[in-house]
Amino acid sequence: MGQDKRRPLLAANWKMHKTVSEMEEFLSSFLKMVSGIDDRDIFIAPSFVCLHDMVKLLKGTQVEPAAQNMFYKEEGAFTGEVSPKMLTSIGVSLVILGHSERRHIFHEDDELIGKKMESAISHGMRPVFCVGETLEEREKGLTSTVLKNQLSRGLQGIKESDTGRVIVAYEPVWAIGTGKTATLEQIQEAHALLRSEIGKLAGEDIAQKVRILYGGSVKPGNIKDIMGLDDVDGALVGGASLEPESFAQIVRFEEN
Ligand code: 13P
Repeated sequence: MGQDKRRPLLAANWKMHKTVSEMEEFLSSFLKMVSGIDDRDIFIAPSFVCLHDMVKLLKGTQVEPAAQNMFYKEEGAFTGEVSPKMLTSIGVSLVILGHSERRHIFHEDDELIGKKMESAISHGMRPVFCVGETLEEREKGLTSTVLKNQLSRGLQGIKESDTGRVIVAYEPVWAIGTGKTATLEQIQEAHALLRSEIGKLAGEDIAQKVRILYGGSVKPGNIKDIMGLDDVDGALVGGASLEPESFAQIVRFEEN
């Protein structure tokens, strides 16, 4: 695997943070800090309120805008929802789906997430598909069962050949926003399991191409070691992506 290591991807999930002016302020510093870095992918998922302005501000840069969620229908009577057609019409093709906060706070289940995955792919988008176990599931020894189930249900409606367009994010629920990062062994074990399951579902070639990100209390101080793991191809960062300095340090992970 070493010689054809996948292209690193460092991703910011801003969750429900930042107004439009705070987003502009962030970008005016951050873009300078990462200018010229072209050997890795960077994306930022702001709130929907910021997204269209962000698309314009990121034009001509190597940083891509992403959505934090979407519904699976193109349009209709779905109050409060945003559609794949709306996102692609403003130039957004990356979308985070199945985030643990969507699963646990907003009760999205595997079936709904599966429909969103299918819809994202059929609209030519690239879903960032999140999976992860709760602390209770880990303590009961259910981690691999939970990950396999979430993965297979999320990918169920997607053709094998399209699976290569999916980015997977492993985010153990107990490590999100808690300051409690999973150990390197736990991360590598989960990522290797996910890659091997992707291999069973879509073939080994695709499994070797799919990028698997780790998320959960990633910071400038731990990103280098995490990125050093064989099956980790990037990170999905919450809290530490809100300050330009700290997200730029994460992007330049080798220098930490
Ligand atoms: P934190 O980096 O704040 O733990 O959040 C991780 C996350 O949920 C990214 O999607």
